[in-house]
Amino acid sequence: MMAKAVAGDVNPYIPKPVTIITVKNESLETKTLRLKLYNWRLSFVPGQFVQLLLPGVGEAPFCIASSQLDQKHIDLTIIRRGILTTSVHYLRPGDAVGIRGPLGKPFPLDAFVGKDLLIVATGIGIAALKSLIIYAIENRKKFNDVTLLYGARFLEDIVYRDELKEWEKSINVVITLSKAPPEWRGLRGRVTDHLGSLRLGKGTVAAVCGSPAVMSSIADALVKHGISSGDIYVSLERHMKCGIGKCARCIIPGGKHVCIDGPVFRVADISIGAIGE
Ligand SMILES: Cc1cc2nc3c(=O)[nH]c(=O)nc-3n(C[C@H](O)[C@H](O)[C@H](O)COP(=O)(O)OP(=O)(O)OC[C@H]3O[C@@H](n4cnc5c(N)ncnc54)[C@H](O)[C@@H]3O)c2cc1C
Ligand code: FES
Repeated sequence: MMAKAVAGDVNPYIPKPVTIITVKNESLETKTLRLKLYNWRLSFVPGQFVQLLLPGVGEAPFCIASSQLDQKHIDLTIIRRGILTTSVHYLRPGDAVGIRGPLGKPFPLDAFVGKDLLIVATGIGIAALKSLIIYAIENRKKFNDVTLLYGARFLEDIVYRDELKEWEKSINVVITLSKAPPEWRGLRGRVTDHLGSLRLGKGTVAAVCGSPAVMSSIADALVKHGISSGDIYVSLERHMKCGIGKCARCIIPGGKHVCIDGPVFRVADISIGAIGE
């Protein structure tokens, strides 16, 4: 027998309309869209994502990259990859799109309280961690040391340039470039080259996002530097369709769904292979 729709049921596949109010160029390939929510609140926790619908193009998942205190807007930072993300780069203020969410399991913020918080981001992975960085700054007293270790390849790849300057006033910001130009005065090399110069160990909790191979080498290196795999959290990226645990598109080795069991996972709960596949 077919299940009857009950009044008040909300169809989880129907997106809500939002309007783009600003488009900021972060780098040649990366833009941040600010989306205006109409008469509704999107209550999210850092680490969660939305499915962005572009009418006539399709849907794709993006992490919310703004403060959870902002009741009227959310930001999404999007790097150009294929058809949908290229279409995103043609969007202009005033254009209407849709979002579904918030979706997925966020960072367990209560487990971070009273600890040293190390946030390690490479490339566009910083977008998945931005709302956590903002949360740590807005709730600075809840944490001991807070450090952002951010790695990019080229100087032009660095995003959030204005924010990084602001964040430096409240937390330690360490930037390293793996293909630095001669004039670069900051650190050179990969993020893993600089973990040794940070004070790490028991009492440190780490949040990591980057490409799968890089995240798995960071997780390995953090364990070698004395952080338990139970205190390391990764934000995984996998191809998705439904975003709500129905289509099996996002299953990782071990049977977990990235869309509902993640995207944030404790490294102790998944295999290193699942991170780097
Ligand atoms: C939970 C989650 C959060 C995400 N957050 C962000 C974000 O904040 N900012 C951002 O720029 N991107 C984010 N992504 C990735 C984003 O969803 C993809 O870049 C997007 O779906 C690509 O769509 P497309 O049609 O442009 O490219 P496609 O034509 O689908 O793909 C282009 C290329 O990118 C690869 N690719 C596409 N999607 C993925 C994926 N999910 N994992 C690995 N490789 C992929 C494809 O294999 C192909 O090589 C997130 C993904 C997930 C699952
Ligand atoms: S995206 Fe459909 S089950 Fe995860």
